[in-house]
Amino acid sequence: MIKYIGSKRTLLPHITAAFSDLSQGASVLDLFTGTTRVAQGLKSMGLNVHANDHNSYAWVNARCYVAGDRDLLADRAEELLDTLRDTPPAPGWLTEHYSHQARFFHPDNGARIEAIRNRIEKLDLDPALQSVALVSLMEAADRVDSTTGVQMAFLKEWAARASKPLELRMPRLLPGGGTATCQEALTIAETFSGDAAYLDPPYNQHNYRANYHVWETLIQWDNPEVYGVVHKRMDCRELKSDFNSKRRIEAAFQSVVGALDVPRLVVSFNNEGFLGREQIESILGKRGHVATVELDHKRYVGAQIGIYNLEGRAVGQVGHLRNKELLYIMDVDPDRADAAAVRAAGAVDGAISR
Ligand SMILES: C[S@@+](CC[C@H](N)C(=O)[O-])C[C@H]1O[C@@H](n2cnc3c(N)ncnc32)[C@H](O)[C@@H]1O
Repeated sequence: MIKYIGSKRTLLPHITAAFSDLSQGASVLDLFTGTTRVAQGLKSMGLNVHANDHNSYAWVNARCYVAGDRDLLADRAEELLDTLRDTPPAPGWLTEHYSHQARFFHPDNGARIEAIRNRIEKLDLDPALQSVALVSLMEAADRVDSTTGVQMAFLKEWAARASKPLELRMPRLLPGGGTATCQEALTIAETFSGDAAYLDPPYNQHNYRANYHVWETLIQWDNPEVYGVVHKRMDCRELKSDFNSKRRIEAAFQSVVGALDVPRLVVSFNNEGFLGREQIESILGKRGHVATVELDHKRYVGAQIGIYNLEGRAVGQVGHLRNKELLYIMDVDPDRADAAAVRAAGAVDGAISR
């Protein structure tokens, strides 16, 4: 999976435990799916998962890992990746913008990424197979990028990994199906009806489309107009999320929570975010009983790597590397909410309050 701010990798066992009493085949929504890590955890438990995100690079993750069925895709995908591995490099638009003018990929890798992406486009693949190839390429590019984890800056000197050869690997597909959409959260919240939903919205001003604009372009493959030193897509200026706005997030969260037709909601939110604990508990409390679990969480990947200038030199100390991730569990049945919170806190480091 790609490096991603807010990825719930380390919290996954706590989060999935909050859903472990649901019966096999129960339908669960991951409304802000990102890398799909949580959606994959839920799918592995035998739940019927719908994954949504408004960015295309996250949607392609969802088509591959959530909607994609390993039993139907794996053999054909292996064959396809073998073919793609033989693609000769061919520099063009992407290499010019992201290896020369901005320097996210070493030119050798830029030219390979570009040639493989063009080939995927020309092959006219069925959408499921295409999503596996695109995810394989995006993850391969992520392993050789020259950033500190987000695409708002690149290192002045190439990162050591940037000179490693691009390597297409088979994504770890899961057996079984699921569904995936690329919509605004509220649009899906208004139409989804099921057994539970997981909400992991952005918690501050950092816009995901801008932070991962190169992935958005690699997936859309639309030669967009770009601006600024890092050649961001012009639409980063227009497509803003209400969840990145201090002023609008409360109303947006309220609308989504109010619209979802599910008896259980599990919400991840950080203690440094735009919404405070009381606000979240009060909004969720209108729908049912709320139990809150506090989890210790290492700060996001950029902060862990350090604060760097564009020459790649450390210029600042990160204040603290641990913050609290809060898991809010709402269920219309108070006993079920409390039991889910006890499981989510587990034996590790959670502290529950009701
Ligand atoms: C904190 S991340 C989710 C991380 C994810 N749980 C994971 O483990 O990878 C928030 C996600 O919400 C998406 N997002 C932001 N605003 C949105 C909106 N209005 N509608 C749908 N998705 C949105 C972003 O693209 C981002 O992937």
